[in-house]
Amino acid sequence: MNSALTRVRLLGAAALIAVAAFVIAQTPRPAQTQTPGTPARFSEKEAHRPTPIPDRVILTWTGDPAHTQAITWRTDPSVTKSVVDFAVADGGPLFVKQARRVDARTEALTTDLGAAHYHSANLSGLEPKTLYAYRVGDGANWSEWFQFRTADTSPQPFSFVYFGDAQNDLKSLWSRVIRDSYRQASDIRFFVHAGDLINSRTRDAEWGEWHTAGGWLNGMVPSVPTPGNHEYSRDAAGKAMLTPNWRPQFTLPLNGPARLPETAYYLDYQGVRIVSLNSNERQEEQATWLAEVLRDNPAQWTVVTFHHPIFSSARGRDNTELRRLWQPVLERSRVDLVLQGHDHTYARSNLQTGAGALDPVGGTVYVVSVSGPKMYNVERLPWMARMAEDTQLYQVITVDGNRLRYAAHTATGQVYDAFELRKRPGRANQLVERVPKDVPLRLRVAPPVPAAPPAAPR
Ligand SMILES: [Fe+2]
Repeated sequence: MNSALTRVRLLGAAALIAVAAFVIAQTPRPAQTQTPGTPARFSEKEAHRPTPIPDRVILTWTGDPAHTQAITWRTDPSVTKSVVDFAVADGGPLFVKQARRVDARTEALTTDLGAAHYHSANLSGLEPKTLYAYRVGDGANWSEWFQFRTADTSPQPFSFVYFGDAQNDLKSLWSRVIRDSYRQASDIRFFVHAGDLINSRTRDAEWGEWHTAGGWLNGMVPSVPTPGNHEYSRDAAGKAMLTPNWRPQFTLPLNGPARLPETAYYLDYQGVRIVSLNSNERQEEQATWLAEVLRDNPAQWTVVTFHHPIFSSARGRDNTELRRLWQPVLERSRVDLVLQGHDHTYARSNLQTGAGALDPVGGTVYVVSVSGPKMYNVERLPWMARMAEDTQLYQVITVDGNRLRYAAHTATGQVYDAFELRKRPGRANQLVERVPKDVPLRLRVAPPVPAAPPAAPR
């Protein structure tokens, strides 16, 4: 009896141990690398997981900015049908009762973090020069009501912002740049992103950070993005592959070369023709296309953006083939301003009429800039009218009749560089320097060695 009782007790103890072991095995534990008292890093998959509630809401254009507005957003794959409600905005809340509803197009995208649905709609038939409000959703889950303003049909003064490479530390360090640009010039009509918006084309977390940094600004101020080399990689056969996020998340014009959809395109906004070229591939084909697009250009001002600079501002990064192919077209077509990135420095030219410029009255200003925190050294070159190292910048560009005003601001809002272009019929633009006199060059120079203090008298 005693031995039987012992066996029962032993079996009971063994069962208890087994249950305890099972419970311990099932209890969620922190990452193995965590030491007691150290917080664990939250997973990117959770941090950027889509839900039925719209996020990554972004305005772009695929048509005329005076009469259309494209809107794109993301949800989880459970949302298969989405809509946009929109109305002319009003000071009171009852405008929502006037809202019209349009269906969105839904596209699936699977990234390294999982599956999502992207939804896009192009509002058309809008009134020019009008403030609209809109929300996006599935009928049960909605965004807030955002507001945007349509362009005028004729040339009118306006401002836009240009960013060089954002690329790294998008949430922690680039966010302050895009946000300060809106604080600086809140009536800006669009953001130009000159490539390398992110660092790794296949990492959805980086796109998540990019959208987080822009946040609700992207729902109110349209974006005009061009891709950089970091939006690309090459497959085994050397074929260029654009980040899979690009086309689902940006709804852009299809008026460029057929094999470069939504990366090479143009828009006309109140007297300015803005052209995005894709400097990563098919450069020769785009030179021909650009010449055609600018041959019958009704706009008074022409701004072109692409990623790889015609004149590099960092050592060992010269793009000779791109310069050979594109500089003659840019200058012959009287492009006023070229906005570029890639070199992680700041450099701005005076009016350039290079060897390839066939028009003696032309003259183009070239800018390389950087908005994110990755920094290279400037190669000091004679063409640079103003340069900077180790500086995050954004540019506010204002077009007002025959004047174009340009100001480069640091991430803290300080004007670092400025100039004005004046249009003169039948003659080259006049460039008036407005570089602030009291702002020293921001260059990496070895700090002067302090002189040895005189020996103290004994
Ligand atoms: Fe780049």
